[in-house]
Amino acid sequence: MVRFAPELVSSSLGLGLLLCSWGCLASAESRAPPEKIAIVGAGIGGTSAAYYLRQKFGKDVKIDVFEREVVGGRLATLSVQGHDYEAGGSVIHPLNLHMKRFVKDLGLSTIPASGGLMGVYNGENLVFEESSWFIINMIKLVWRYGFQSLRMHMWVEDVLDKFMRIYRYQSHDYAFSSVEKLLHAIGGDDYLVLVNQTLQENLQKAGFSEKFLSEMIAPIMRINFGQSTDLNAFVGAVSMTAADSNLWAVEGGNKVVCSRLIQASKANLISGSVLSVEDKTKTKQRGNPTKMYEVVYKSGSETKSDFYDIVLVATPLSQKIANIAFLNFDPPIEEFHQNYQQIVTTFVKGELNSTLFSSRAKDQFGLSTVLITDNSDMFINSLGIVNSVKGKEHPPPSTDGTQVWKTFSREILTKEQITTLFLSYDYAVRKPWLAYPYYTPPEKCPPILLHDQLYYLNGIESAASAMEMSAIAGYNAALLAYHRWNGHTHMIDQDNLYEKLKSEL
Ligand SMILES: Cc1cc2nc3c(=O)[nH]c(=O)nc-3n(C[C@H](O)[C@H](O)[C@H](O)COP(=O)(O)OP(=O)(O)OC[C@H]3O[C@@H](n4cnc5c(N)ncnc54)[C@H](O)[C@@H]3O)c2cc1C
Ligand SMILES: *[C@@H]1O[C@H](CO)[C@@H](O)[C@H](O)[C@H]1NC(C)=O
Ligand SMILES: *[C@@H]1O[C@H](CO)[C@@H](O)[C@H](O)[C@H]1NC(C)=O
Repeated sequence: MVRFAPELVSSSLGLGLLLCSWGCLASAESRAPPEKIAIVGAGIGGTSAAYYLRQKFGKDVKIDVFEREVVGGRLATLSVQGHDYEAGGSVIHPLNLHMKRFVKDLGLSTIPASGGLMGVYNGENLVFEESSWFIINMIKLVWRYGFQSLRMHMWVEDVLDKFMRIYRYQSHDYAFSSVEKLLHAIGGDDYLVLVNQTLQENLQKAGFSEKFLSEMIAPIMRINFGQSTDLNAFVGAVSMTAADSNLWAVEGGNKVVCSRLIQASKANLISGSVLSVEDKTKTKQRGNPTKMYEVVYKSGSETKSDFYDIVLVATPLSQKIANIAFLNFDPPIEEFHQNYQQIVTTFVKGELNSTLFSSRAKDQFGLSTVLITDNSDMFINSLGIVNSVKGKEHPPPSTDGTQVWKTFSREILTKEQITTLFLSYDYAVRKPWLAYPYYTPPEKCPPILLHDQLYYLNGIESAASAMEMSAIAGYNAALLAYHRWNGHTHMIDQDNLYEKLKSEL
C-alpha cells in the first residue's frame, strides 16, 4: 500500500519550500483552496496531474478522476499465453525524469527495454545490420554514411540538453499557459522552429544526406510515430531518443504507474464516460453564487452529474476519442482538429520466416528488430522480439525457435499477412489504437487554458506524443491551476527563466 507521504514533498522540494515559506503563506491566506477538482482521463497525463494537484492544494480538496475504460489509457498490456507485454507506450528514456521519479516515489521497479540487434529492410534486402561489436558498428556506419550518425547524435543531444530545463522550471513551480510558451521558455525561437519545420527540412539544411535520412532516420520515425521524416523536427528528436541505449520500462507494466499515482494522490476513481462540461453558476451552502463547472457523465446505464471548481481534460479532444460537449461557454470552446492516426499493435508467438529479409540460414539471422524504409511496400511498420513486463526470463527463452514478436501496422493484419511473415505461429493477439497525432508541420498546438479554470493537457501531443510529455503536461496543468486559483501571476509564463534561475544558484 502506498501512502501519500508528506516527507516526499519535503525531500525533493525541501529547499523550494523553505525559500518560499513567507510568500507562500501570505498568498495561501488570500483564498481558500478549491473544494472539488475533476480530471477527465486516467492515463499518465491525468494521473500525474492528480498527484501534483494533491501536492499543491493539500489534503482537503476532493479530486475525482473519471475513466471511461481502464486506468492507464494508452499504457496497456496484452496477454500472450499467460504473459503480459506492453501494447501501447513501452519504452522510457533514462532522462525522462518524471517517469523516473514516479517509479522511485511509488516504490516500483524497472526492467531494461527489449534489446538485441537491429536491421533495416528496404523491401528487397537489409541495407543496414547492426553487429554485436561496438567497433564494427562504428566502422559499418562510417563506411556507409560518413560521420552523419555521429553528427545526428550531437543534433539530438543538443535538443535534449535544452529540454532538460523544463525540470528546473517545474521544480521551481513555474507554469505555462500554452504549449508554445512552454517550448519557447525551454529552447527559445529555435524550439518553435522545430515544431514548425519537418524533420526532413531541418536535417537537410543541417547537411544530412538523402541516403542517411531514408535508410536510418525514416525507419526510426516509422516504428515510433507511424510516419516518415515529414513529421515535425521536435517529435523527430523525441523519436530519435527512443533509439538511445539504456531504455527502460516499469516492471509489471507501465500502466501500474497510473493506478499507483491515483492511490498516492488519494483521488477517487469514477468509472464513467464524461459527456459534457457546462459553465454554470451555483450557490454553495453558504456564501454567494459561484462559477462552477457541471460535469455530466454516464456510469453504467445511469447518467449523473456533479459540480467542480476546477476541471482538467486529460484525453485527446478528438471526436473519435473523447467527444465531450462544452456547453454554455461564452465565447464557445472551439473544436480542435488533432488528427489521431490508427496504429495496430499485433503480438505473434511464432517462428519468423527470416528468408523474407535475408538469404542467410535462419539460425544465422540474429536480428531481433527489423526497421523498414518508406519505399518498401511492406504492410507493417516494424517488427521486433519483445520481453514480457516481468523481464527477459519470464517466460524462459523457448528452445523451438518461436519467439514473441510485436509488429506495428496501419491496418489490422490479415491471416495471410501473418503467415507471410511467419513460418508457423501458435498465437496472435492485437490491439488497434488511435495512437498519436499524424504530424503536419507547421504545428499549431491547441490551448491549455480552455476557460477560467478549465484546462486541456493533450495539446502538448501536437508538439510530441510520449509518456513523459503527458507527465510534463500533467505537472504543468497542476501548477497552472494552482497559481491561477491563487492569483500568482508572476509564476506563469515567465520567459527568461533559464537566465533567471541560473543567476539564482
Ligand atoms: C502503440 C503505441 C506505442 C507508443 N510507444 C511509446 C513509447 O515507447 N514511449 C513513450 O513515451 N510513449 C509511447 N507512446 C505514447 C504514449 O503512450 C502516450 O503519449 C501517453 O500514454 C498518453 O497519455 P495520456 O494520459 O495523455 O492519454 P491517454 O493514455 O490516452 O489517456 C486518456 C484517458 O482518457 C480516457 N477517456 C477518454 N475520453 C473520456 C471520457 N469522455 N470520459 C472519461 N474518460 C475518458 C481514455 O479511456 C484514456 O484512458 C505510444 C503510444 C502508442 C499508442
Ligand atoms: C510557426 O507556425 C505558426 C503557424 O503557422 C505561426 O503562427 C508561427 O509564427 C510560427 N513560428 C515560428 C517561430 O516560425
Ligand atoms: C519464406 O519467405 C520466402 C521469401 O518470401 C518464400 O519464398 C518462402 O516460401 C517462405 N517460406 C514459407 C514456409 O512460407
